[in-house]
Amino acid sequence: MKEPVRVAVTGAAGQIGYSLLFRIAAGDMLGQDQPIILQLLEVTPALKALSGVVMELNDGAFPLLHGIVTSDDPMVAFKDADYALLVGAMPRKAGMERGDLLSANGGIFKPQGEALSEVASRGVKVLVVGNPANTNALIAQQNAPKLDAGQFTAMVRLDHNRAISQLAAKTDSLVSDVKNLTIWGNHSSTQYPDLSQATVGGKKALDLVDQQWYEEEYIPTVAKRGAAIIEARGASSAASAASAAIDHMHDWALGTKDGEWVSMGIPSDGSYGIPKGLIYGFPVTVKGGKYAIVQDLPVSDFSRAKMDATAKELEEERDAVRDLGLVK
Ligand code: NAI
Repeated sequence: MKEPVRVAVTGAAGQIGYSLLFRIAAGDMLGQDQPIILQLLEVTPALKALSGVVMELNDGAFPLLHGIVTSDDPMVAFKDADYALLVGAMPRKAGMERGDLLSANGGIFKPQGEALSEVASRGVKVLVVGNPANTNALIAQQNAPKLDAGQFTAMVRLDHNRAISQLAAKTDSLVSDVKNLTIWGNHSSTQYPDLSQATVGGKKALDLVDQQWYEEEYIPTVAKRGAAIIEARGASSAASAASAAIDHMHDWALGTKDGEWVSMGIPSDGSYGIPKGLIYGFPVTVKGGKYAIVQDLPVSDFSRAKMDATAKELEEERDAVRDLGLVK
């Protein structure tokens, strides 16, 4: 049996946490041979609710779960963490301006970045789920000077999975037949779900659907799926978000399949003309725990415009948090 690894999860008493923790404990994230110690962070008023979640985790009698730590102090919850899933965030409330939202989240992700920098394992892999995920990841990263910028990622995997599912349904295929689509950019309505390189059962996806459906129905359906879930369920997506977080970390830790890529929000190195440093959704492959952007994909004028629009939104978010002194 391997030595246990430490998995920190913030917002652990929330909706996503309630799905996520049990999937991690069951071995879905890091494999059935990898014991884990969960290190759960919550705000002080939620610690009582968190103690109930811990009781349920214990009652699950998960063989891979070798310990649970709870705290309202990031310096405790992130101590020696090998993986950190930053889920807890300040949701947008009615009447809140975007600047207020970014500043409230800065108050969360700046100290968390600082704490990760000080106490986490030097190889920690960080996934930010809490919205606005890409910019929250940037804030945490910029406040973690002792870690590498590339250790901070944001989740666009839920969008990726939604895009796979919608395409499979349209082409009457299985989700496992769909390969190599990409979510470019921000986890927001400006994201670009790109089918230009995607295949379904080995055939080019765009030969199977018409362009008008792709542009006018598919892209908005994927981009606005979160709102549709809220409308139907009366609460935002939680189990699917948790599942996507599991997929993201699983593939980052254990690698992507040969010949296939996934979408991850990662710091841009300037590939595809995306401004350096933005945390932007890219097509990536992973080997040995290291991700690499898939290079040299053709970019049509249609794609270019969409990729630039979502980059522009991320630049605006970055400029807003820069004005607040949260990033350089
Ligand atoms: P929730 O409100 O049910 O839970 C959030 C939890 O975070 C609460 O228990 C709260 O006490 C905790 N929290 C707040 N500030 C914290 C801090 N400083 N440290 C530790 N914990 C803190 O929300 P839910 O549904 O679990 O969603 C969490 C976040 O994930 C939201 O920001 C949501 O918008 C985002 N999200 C992102 C998705 C993505 O695809 N990137 C998809 C779905 C949700």
